[in-house]
Amino acid sequence: MKILVIGSGGREHTLVWKIAQSADVDRLYAAPGNPGMAQLAECVDIQADDTDGLLVFALRERIDLTVVGPEVPLALGIVDRFEERGLKIFGPSGRAAQIESSKGFSKDLMAKYGIPTARYQRFTFSEEAVRYVREQGAPIVVKADGLAAGKGVLICRTQAEAVEAVRTIMEDQAFGAAGKEVVVEEFLEGEEASILALTDGETILPLVASQDHKAIFDGDRGPNTGGMGAYAPAPVVTEAVAQRVMEQVLRPAVDGMAKEGRIYKGVLYAGLMIADGKLKVVEFNCRFGDPESQVVLPLLKTDLVALMMAVAEGRLGEMSLEESDASAVCVVMASEGYPGSYEKGKRITGLDTAREMDDVVVFHAGTGVRDGNIVTNGGRVLGVTAMGADIGRAIDRAYEAVGKINFEGAYYRRDIGAKALTRL
Ligand code: AMP
Ligand code: GLY
Repeated sequence: MKILVIGSGGREHTLVWKIAQSADVDRLYAAPGNPGMAQLAECVDIQADDTDGLLVFALRERIDLTVVGPEVPLALGIVDRFEERGLKIFGPSGRAAQIESSKGFSKDLMAKYGIPTARYQRFTFSEEAVRYVREQGAPIVVKADGLAAGKGVLICRTQAEAVEAVRTIMEDQAFGAAGKEVVVEEFLEGEEASILALTDGETILPLVASQDHKAIFDGDRGPNTGGMGAYAPAPVVTEAVAQRVMEQVLRPAVDGMAKEGRIYKGVLYAGLMIADGKLKVVEFNCRFGDPESQVVLPLLKTDLVALMMAVAEGRLGEMSLEESDASAVCVVMASEGYPGSYEKGKRITGLDTAREMDDVVVFHAGTGVRDGNIVTNGGRVLGVTAMGADIGRAIDRAYEAVGKINFEGAYYRRDIGAKALTRL
């Protein structure tokens, strides 16, 4: 089979790495890919949001299965366009991707189908949003409706901050058209967990639960990032919680989407807030998580290509999941200054030494090549993943690997996985 993976981050490197292990793969392409992926796949210079270019390429190369990493091409309807031309592709249609690309749509879906979530209101006029914020008080959360590269959520500790957030999003248009509408919602307390579930619109197969680390600094302090590390399994998701996730979240979401005429297939990402065993959905995403994929996919034993083909062909019911009972931890190495501004082009050393370690995989996120050397080329640079018999051993191994890698200004959290240890 010929397979094309769309995207250029750590999540896509993980997808390429996993797909390359499948016996059915003859040729593997990544568009646009990155230097890490280039070791396993042929990188094609087409950007992830260039749906025209990707379609032409897939038709010309007779790609058997396309796997979409990021949300933007999904929201642009790449799946609809590929399927119209008879191409197989893993991911939801543009209308189904609205579960992520419109927070208002997603919240209304949850309200309609009884999925537990934070209390909320949608607004298209800033004055009304400001009035609501003043009524509700703080803490409160203000969210741009549309896609904002993970930056459109503002957690406001005071009323003044919340009023400012509304103005920033709706009047100053800090996130462009994504902020034409806002969702204002109740601030939720608890511990977060991520569930990635494969579905063909009927059968739902949840992968092992994981936990991201959103904040830049240790102890979950400082501004939110795309994610500074992850581990799986997440002990906060006990068997009882997992069962509730299926009954209260995944099943009603997948069935609800079908009832709305937006059959959902691909991977459904449920971001949960868990407190005292009770759960609420923080958000749905229409794609794999990043960096959650870097710990969830290494634990998957079932052939990923077979699973994705079954999703694309609507026969996931024939499949079952087998996962390793080991643990995985991913420590993200970032550029100094991230999530604010940072420099690029710093030479990275030690990658080969880290790669030689057993049970360690270094996934590239923001890397580039300059004069034959691998250099930094983004905020999140590498995802250093290690497997271990338990979470403690996986943590030690991941940090041992991180210690072998160097670049000027390398920053990483020192407490990835620490929360899991307190629960064991
Ligand atoms: P989202 O872009 O919706 O994933 O939100 C990003 C992050 O903001 C989440 O992972 C949470 O850490 C936080 N967040 C979003 N909504 C809420 C909420 N209602 N209460 C508390 N934290 C939230
Ligand atoms: N790690 C959070 C996300 O993928 O949205």
